[in-house]
Amino acid sequence: MNHLVILLSSDPAKSIWAIQSGQELALLILVILLLVGMVLVAFLAVYLMLILRRALVPPSVVKVVDPRSFWQRIAGLHSLSQEKDLVMEHAYDGIQELDNPTPPWFMGLFYGSIVFGVIYLFIFHVFNVGDLQTAEYTQEVAMADQQREIYIKKVAGSINEKTVAFLKEPKALNAGKALFLQSCVACHGQQGQGGVGPNLTDEYWLHGSSIKAVYHTITEGVPEKGMMSWKKQLNPLQVQQVASFILSLQGSKPAGAKAPQGTKEGPTIPVQTEKVAIR
Ligand code: HEC
Repeated sequence: MNHLVILLSSDPAKSIWAIQSGQELALLILVILLLVGMVLVAFLAVYLMLILRRALVPPSVVKVVDPRSFWQRIAGLHSLSQEKDLVMEHAYDGIQELDNPTPPWFMGLFYGSIVFGVIYLFIFHVFNVGDLQTAEYTQEVAMADQQREIYIKKVAGSINEKTVAFLKEPKALNAGKALFLQSCVACHGQQGQGGVGPNLTDEYWLHGSSIKAVYHTITEGVPEKGMMSWKKQLNPLQVQQVASFILSLQGSKPAGAKAPQGTKEGPTIPVQTEKVAIR
């Protein structure tokens, strides 16, 4: 049972894709055989049904020699010429009924799904050797979190208030724009024109206009004035992106811009920056 856990686990370190020993390979083959076996069981069920039917229904009703091919029988098909044999005894107001039972392929599927259900029940609910969806989900989220952390350490580890630089690549600015639209528009306006928070497109700044100052404002926030600290929500790379995006809005003069606040500062970024329009 322990080995089945290995096969069914969603942990890549233990999953079937990481088969390392011959023993694990053998177990994988076992599982495949199990699946093939289940299909065979479904076929067997159909076959048994056909035999049972022949045994239980009086011979006068069942033709001893069924002219139909194997596939016709599996599909439950009858030719028109056979219709007269299918008529059932009763008739209402001259309306007769044909004996057309559910086709064997369907019943096979039906019984097959019952067999599958029983096996599933035992694996996931009786012996508990497989991970249920919720467990798999939590595991995957935990794994993703780990990977994210590794990624942030690798990519963003070197970014901090002292080393942050303005990003001018459209890709980075677009990422910053997405973050801005997601987290900042409520207070700074759809175009950065200001609202509860100050206008971010003019040359007037309360807390400095350099990329380093803006980075600092976003990470630490100005909690007493209603600008929260974003360091828990955004990783350093994201702060760098959104800060760069904000600076790329310089001089965009959006409609309904909020009156300047703070002190006037000179241009802080290379003037030729591709503007990423907010739509
Ligand atoms: C709940 C409202 C609110 C949200 C959301 C918000 N801010 Fe602010 N922001 C403010 C306020 C208010 C100020 C002004 C603080 C002050 O008066 O010192 C401010 C100031 C700033 C400043 C400094 C502007 C200057 O003139 O120096 C920057 C940069 C800034 N916010 C960026 C962001 C970014 C980036 C986001 C999204 C990640 C964001 N803000 C989300 C309210 C908000």
